[in-house]
Amino acid sequence: MDALELLTTTKGVRRRIDFDRPVPYETLEECVAIAVQAPIGGEEWQPHFLIVDDPALKEAIGALYQEINLPYIDDIEAKALAGADQADHAAIRRSHDTFRWHGEHMGRMPALVIVGLMGRYESQPQIMQASAYGSILPAAWSFMLAARTKGLGATWTTLHLGNADRVAGLLNLPENFTQAAMLAVGYYKGDSFKPAKRLPVSSYTHRNGW
Ligand SMILES: Cc1cc2nc3c(=O)[nH]c(=O)nc-3n(C[C@H](O)[C@H](O)[C@H](O)COP(=O)(O)O)c2cc1C
Repeated sequence: MDALELLTTTKGVRRRIDFDRPVPYETLEECVAIAVQAPIGGEEWQPHFLIVDDPALKEAIGALYQEINLPYIDDIEAKALAGADQADHAAIRRSHDTFRWHGEHMGRMPALVIVGLMGRYESQPQIMQASAYGSILPAAWSFMLAARTKGLGATWTTLHLGNADRVAGLLNLPENFTQAAMLAVGYYKGDSFKPAKRLPVSSYTHRNGW
């Protein structure tokens, strides 16, 4: 796979994850080793990866995820249906069913990888927040890219953060640890990923001013 294909077809894999094929811990560690080559704002913003492959823990985290996911999806689906033509309703329902299905099966994903860093930034100035999140997110994306080169798919999620404290309790996370993303990872079946449909580049690229 060349770099262009990797970059344009890695954004998310849900239904094609193979629940029955375990992912070796060492393989995930190799992805972490690649991911931490991403830029960080300084040593104090070193991202951490917490790999969860214990079935009982995954199930418990999955349940906490789904507790937030279901009402959230119901809400955004209702809003999407309200603003859409009748002809588009079936497609809207289908896509939201995928999100419900994902939450229901979160505990069966071969690995859940929580990415974050030490420190709390909610009430810090923007420069600190940007530096903190800017140090985590490239590494998390690099993890997904590295995983893809090994036949692993992943979906970026954040909805478990509605229950962040309970997830932190399950995993014994330090009190001042910021969780930024949870990647649901596993080997994928088939290999025909396509780039997503996006608006033309000119609609969000600005030259010499807005
Ligand atoms: C910051 C961020 C947070 C996200 N949180 C969630 C989430 O909690 N649950 C979820 O199902 N998808 C979430 N997504 C969306 C998926 O990762 C998304 O499905 C992925 O980008 C692939 O797009 P697609 O599903 O349209 O193919 C999030 C994406 C980003 C970038």
